[in-house]
Amino acid sequence: MTETMNGLHIVATGRSLPATVVTNEQMSHMVDTSDEWIVSRTGIRERRLCQGETNVQLASEAAAQALERAGIEKEALGACVVSTFTSDYGTPSVACMLQKKLALPQDMPSLDINAACSGFLYGLQVARGLLLQGEKRYALVVGSELLSRVVDFEDRSTCVLFGDGAGAAVVELDDRPYYSVMGAQGNDEVLYCPGIGNPRPFLHMAGGDVFRFAVDRIPRCIDALLSQSGLTLEQIDYVVCHQANERIIRHVVHKLGVPMEKFYMNLAKYGNTSSASIPIALDEMYCDGLLQPGMKIICVGFGGGFTWGGVLMEV
Ligand code: ACO
Repeated sequence: MTETMNGLHIVATGRSLPATVVTNEQMSHMVDTSDEWIVSRTGIRERRLCQGETNVQLASEAAAQALERAGIEKEALGACVVSTFTSDYGTPSVACMLQKKLALPQDMPSLDINAACSGFLYGLQVARGLLLQGEKRYALVVGSELLSRVVDFEDRSTCVLFGDGAGAAVVELDDRPYYSVMGAQGNDEVLYCPGIGNPRPFLHMAGGDVFRFAVDRIPRCIDALLSQSGLTLEQIDYVVCHQANERIIRHVVHKLGVPMEKFYMNLAKYGNTSSASIPIALDEMYCDGLLQPGMKIICVGFGGGFTWGGVLMEV
C-alpha cells in the first residue's frame, strides 16, 4: 500500500427493500393518525415493512447486488462491516451470516457494529481502518435494519416514522479525497431501545429533543468536514443526510442557506430506515445517474446514543 492510498471511495452500491408497502392511510387503521399529520410533520408517505424477510436476507441481497456491480473477485475483500441494531441473532452477527450466504472469504474480519442511525458512516471508517492495517483494497460495508422489530405499533408517535431496508457499498482504498468526522454523547433518555429480555423491547423517543439535536449537529458535522477539506459547500455536489424527517433536512438547508436540491431526499418512500437510510439513498442516486465520477458528496447522520457522523468523499 502506498503512502497516498488512505482515502476511500465507493465502487458500487446495492439495496434491498421488503416487498410490502404500508401507506400512511394504512397506518391510520392501526393507530389514531392521518396522512395529513404524517406528511406535514415528517414528509413520509409510505414505508416498507418486513413480512417474514430477515435482516440477513435484506443485507445479503443488497450486498450481492453491490458486489456484482463492483465486478471484483470476492477474494479481493479485506473486511465485511455491517451496521445494525436490529440483528436476527445476538450471535452470529449479520456479517458472519453474509459470509455464509455469499461465500465471502474467511481470512478477513467480519463484524457488526451499532452506532444506530449513524452506523453506516461509522462502518465506512471502521472498514477503512481495517483495510489500512491489511493487504487488501476492498471492503463490503452494509447498513441493514428491521425497525419493525423494535417499533411499538400501538405508539403513534413513533410507529409512523420508521421502515425496514438494507443498503450496501463496496468501497476501495485509494488516493481520492476522503474526510470523516464522528462522535458520541452518552444519552439513554431521549432515544433508546431496551435490549434482549425486556418485556417491552420498543424504541422510545422524545421527538422534540431529537429534532433539536439533529438540526444543531448536522450543520456542525458539515462545517467540520468543509474545514478539514478546505472546500466550500458550493463545491459539494450533493449532501446525503440520514433520512429521518423532511422538516429536519429543510431546517438544516435553511440554516446553511443553500439550495434544497443539494440535499437528496427519498424518505417519502421509505420512512426512517436507521443505518440503512444513507446507503439506500446512495444506491438510488447511482441508479438514477445523479452521481458521476469526480463529484464530491457529503453524507451525514445522527442517531441513538447520541451518535453522529459525516464523510466527505469523491464519487
Ligand atoms: N398522528 C397524529 N398525532 C400525533 C402523532 C401521529 N402519528 N404522533 C404524535 N401526535 C400528536 C401528539 O400526541 C401531540 O398531541 P397533543 O398536542 O394532543 O399532546 C401532537 O401530535 C404534537 O406532538 P409533537 O410530538 O409535539 O409533534 P411534533 O410536531 O414535534 O412532531 C415528530 C413529532 C415528527 C416526531 C418530531 O418531533 C420529529 O420529527 N422529531 C425528530 C424525530 C426523528 O427524527 N427521529 C428519528 C431520529 S432517531 C433515529 O433515526 C433512530
